[in-house]
Amino acid sequence: MREHVDRLGAEHPPIPLDSADFTMKRPDLLVSRFGATLAYMTRVELEVERNVLELNLLLPDPPPVDKYFYDDVWGPQEIHHGLLLDRMQTLAGLPVSAPNVDKIDFQLKLLGALAHLSPIQDISRMLYYLTGVATEKSAILAYNLLYKGLLDLGEKAVASTIIAPIRRQEPGHFAYYKIAAIGLWNDMAPWQKWLTRLLRKQSFEVVGAYNRRQRAEFGGVMEDIGITADGDIGIQKYAQQVGQVEMELLWAQKQGLQLPTYVLDSFRSAFRLFRRSSR
Ligand SMILES: [Fe+2]
Ligand SMILES: [Fe+2]
Repeated sequence: MREHVDRLGAEHPPIPLDSADFTMKRPDLLVSRFGATLAYMTRVELEVERNVLELNLLLPDPPPVDKYFYDDVWGPQEIHHGLLLDRMQTLAGLPVSAPNVDKIDFQLKLLGALAHLSPIQDISRMLYYLTGVATEKSAILAYNLLYKGLLDLGEKAVASTIIAPIRRQEPGHFAYYKIAAIGLWNDMAPWQKWLTRLLRKQSFEVVGAYNRRQRAEFGGVMEDIGITADGDIGIQKYAQQVGQVEMELLWAQKQGLQLPTYVLDSFRSAFRLFRRSSR
């Protein structure tokens, strides 16, 4: 694990902010096609700052390698993703992002208090890894689609000097969480696995959404980047990829189930909310 993190840190330093070429041919068109997507992704990347505070609360006594990963490698990389996207969107004419970087949800505080008990902390840690897996997979897929979308608009500069370098850093994050999740799952007692399944089912959320409005916004992102171009089939394919690791880990005993229902349900519901709010 440590080697993986060493390698990520060495091969992927935070993207230098002056390495980006912010030239946009038609910023107005770019905003009308992908403005909402850019704003959403910028916020989620910048909120990593709060995620690190939450982690310190949730995992008062984390394995050193986790702390090393999120403090020294993951955090700085994601913040630069956010700063680059924020600069791009403001240059395109959108408002500066207003992420929530310090307000922590009450439920998390409660879980944080319980996390001082080590068997409980293992469960929090498992949920953190699972969220990481789903979040990073969502990011990889979204950046792939956004990259193609920007090229289709002829916006080569921003696609290749901003979106492409960002998307190159996400698979390493995904791999970290996946390896960590598999390792911890295999060490868990049956009651911990049971509780993890229960909590995961209840707390799964589409990436970056903490309320109804944000859920609807994510539904809009799904439409703008083309996930829903083929209707529900597209949502199913997307959910399948996002939920694959936890399907194989948490629900392996459920014969015939293709993906966890709660994963598909939350993507469908985000899209429905968006449709309703945009009419
Ligand atoms: Fe990122
Ligand atoms: Fe990431």
